[in-house]
Amino acid sequence: MPLAFKRELKGIILLILSLITSFLVLFTTNLHAQSAKKIYSSDCTACHSLEGKPTEKSKVDFTTLKWQRSKSETELVNFLTEDSKHSEIIDSDKNKAEKVVKRYLKTLGEKVEFSAKINPTEIFQKNCSRCHLPTGEPLFPKAKNLQDSKLHESLSGNDIFKVIQRGRGKMPDYGAKLNEQEIWSLVALIRKMRK
Ligand code: HEC
Ligand code: HEC
Repeated sequence: MPLAFKRELKGIILLILSLITSFLVLFTTNLHAQSAKKIYSSDCTACHSLEGKPTEKSKVDFTTLKWQRSKSETELVNFLTEDSKHSEIIDSDKNKAEKVVKRYLKTLGEKVEFSAKINPTEIFQKNCSRCHLPTGEPLFPKAKNLQDSKLHESLSGNDIFKVIQRGRGKMPDYGAKLNEQEIWSLVALIRKMRK
């Protein structure tokens, strides 16, 4: 076989392999998110509402800032697998509990309603736009593209909240500068940048 042809063939095979892997990654992350909502809607909505708001059977409101910060993911997983009533509902299945907590309950904070005084676009402009363009595209080298749907699928609202609050690598932390409502409003704004 001529060398040039061999090289081309290798390139094509590599391309096909990387296409297959990216499809698989997309497919499985999607599946994760879907199955968390599915578990919640089939196992939990007898007493909690689909939106996480209080019902006649349970007073807890998963969408408030207070609730979102009151317990860590680990504490919630332990609650679901150890509380006598809830462990029965979830078959003491730790994987299932982790999925519901990380991919559903802890994503409800981004749906919190903000006081009209908070203007996330302005906060973003002031604090973030020297590295992230208002469209979400990166400006600073190595800043992530906030339009990327793969990024959105891999991060819960709580993950995005934590990155903004605590920072990571070259990304500064804003925990001292912005309050929790302001950070949640940025999470909601970033969700709208998704393409
Ligand atoms: C049979 C009714 C019922 C079902 C079904 C149910 N729960 Fe609950 N859950 C409750 C009640 C009651 C409480 C106590 C909170 C309250 O209302 O005061 C509670 C509390 C919780 C809490 C703790 C809140 C806190 O901060 O202490 C979490 C988390 C929770 N439920 C998640 C779930 C999940 C996830 C499912 C589905 C896998 C589920 N629940 C299914 C009735 C139920
Ligand atoms: C000095 C430049 C800089 C500023 C200012 C900045 N970022 Fe970033 N941002 C980065 C970099 C670099 C990364 C990639 C961090 C990493 O994963 O190493 C990043 C990543 C992110 C991510 C993706 C996190 C992830 O887990 O992939 C989000 C969301 C984000 N930034 C939001 C914001 C918001 C909101 C602000 C303003 C409050 C902000 N950034 C301000 C540089 C910046």
